[in-house]
Amino acid sequence: MNPMADINQFNAVISKRIEIAPGLIILQAKPDGWELPDFKAGQYAVLGLAGASKRTKLSDKEETAPDPDKIIKRPYSISSSSKEKQYIEFYITLIRSGSLTPRLFALDVGDKVFMSEKYKGLFTLKDVPVESNLVLISTGTGLAPYVSMIRTEFEERPNRRFAVLHGARHSWDLGYRAELSTLANYFAGFSYLPTLSRGDEEGAYKGYVQELWTKGFVEKEWGVKPTPQDTHIFLCGAPAMLKDMTQKLEADGFKVHKKKEPGQIHVEKFW
Ligand SMILES: Cc1cc2nc3c(=O)[nH]c(=O)nc-3n(C[C@H](O)[C@H](O)[C@H](O)COP(=O)(O)OP(=O)(O)OC[C@H]3O[C@@H](n4cnc5c(N)ncnc54)[C@H](O)[C@@H]3O)c2cc1C
Ligand SMILES: NC(=O)c1ccc[n+]([C@@H]2O[C@H](COP(=O)([O-])OP(=O)(O)OC[C@H]3O[C@@H](n4cnc5c(N)ncnc54)[C@H](OP(=O)(O)O)[C@@H]3O)[C@@H](O)[C@H]2O)c1
Repeated sequence: MNPMADINQFNAVISKRIEIAPGLIILQAKPDGWELPDFKAGQYAVLGLAGASKRTKLSDKEETAPDPDKIIKRPYSISSSSKEKQYIEFYITLIRSGSLTPRLFALDVGDKVFMSEKYKGLFTLKDVPVESNLVLISTGTGLAPYVSMIRTEFEERPNRRFAVLHGARHSWDLGYRAELSTLANYFAGFSYLPTLSRGDEEGAYKGYVQELWTKGFVEKEWGVKPTPQDTHIFLCGAPAMLKDMTQKLEADGFKVHKKKEPGQIHVEKFW
C-alpha cells in the first residue's frame, strides 16, 4: 500500500469500511501494537498515507504527483464512542481534487494507515453543564463529532434533551440515519431532524439546516423553546452555515463560547 515510506509510521489497520454513498464512507482503524489513549467525545485524530498510495478512481487525476515518500496528514473528527477501546471510527467525504481523501477512499480492510496516537480538540462537552440540553447542528460529515458525543454520553444523561439537526444533499447522504432514527423512536428526549437541500423525499424537510432552527422545529419537538439558560448549541460543517447560524443564534441571545467568556455556541471549522 505504501511501498517507499517508512512502514513503521503506518501504525493502524483498517478494520471496517462502510460505503454510505459514492464519495462518503465510514472507516474504522485499529491500532497495530499500541493501545488507544483516552479521548473526549468531539475530539479529532490525524490520519495519513504516503504520496505513493493509490487514489480512488472516483477522484480527479493529480496534476503534479506528490513526493511518494512524504506522508500526507489531515485531521478527522472521531465518530466512535470514547468508551470504545478497540478501534477509532471516522466519517469522511471525498474531495475529488484533494490530496488525502482520494487515497483514504482507496483503502480496503486490512490496509495500513498512519493514525495519530494522541487526540486533540476543544469541540467537546467539557464546558457544558451536565443539566444543559444540546442542539447539535451539522452539514455533511460535520455530523461525526456528534455521533461520538451521543454514543459516549446519551445513556448516561437520559434527562438531558438532545436534538440533532443534519443537512445533506440527498437522502442517501444521511450517514448514521438508522442509528439516529432508532434513538429518536425509542427516547422521548432525543430528536433527529434531517433536512435535504436537493432531494425531495417524502417525510423529509427540504431546505438548509438553518431553517430547522428559524422555523422552530426544535421547539416543536421539545414542547419548549431552547434558551441560552438551558441549552448549548454545537455547529460543525460548511463555513457559510457556521457563519449564518452563529448570527441567527446571537440574534436569539446565545453567545459564542470562549475560554475567558463562557457562552453557549460551540463551533468546529473543518476548512
Ligand atoms: C478539526 C477538523 C476535523 C475534521 N474532521 C473531518 C471529518 O470528520 N470528516 C471529513 O470528511 N473531513 C474532516 N475534516 C477535513 C479534513 O481534515 C480535510 O481537510 C479533508 O478531508 C480534505 O482533505 P484532502 O487532503 O482530500 O483535500 P486537500 O488537498 O487538503 O484540499 C481540498 C480543499 O477542500 C477544502 N475542503 C476540506 N474539507 C472540505 C469539505 N468537507 N467540503 C468542501 N471542501 C472541503 C479544503 O479547504 C481545501 O481547499 C476535518 C478538519 C478539521 C480541521
Ligand atoms: N455524497 C456526498 O455527500 C459527496 C460525494 C462526493 C463528493 N462530495 C463532495 O465533497 C464536498 C463536501 O461534501 P460534504 O458532504 O462535506 O458536504 P456537501 O454535500 O457539500 O454539503 C452538505 C449539505 O450542506 C449544504 N450547504 C451548502 N452550503 C450551505 C450553507 N451555506 N448553509 C447551509 N447548508 C449548506 C449542502 O447543500 P447544497 O450543496 O445543495 O447547496 C448540503 O445539503 C463537496 O465538494 C461535494 O461535492 C460529496
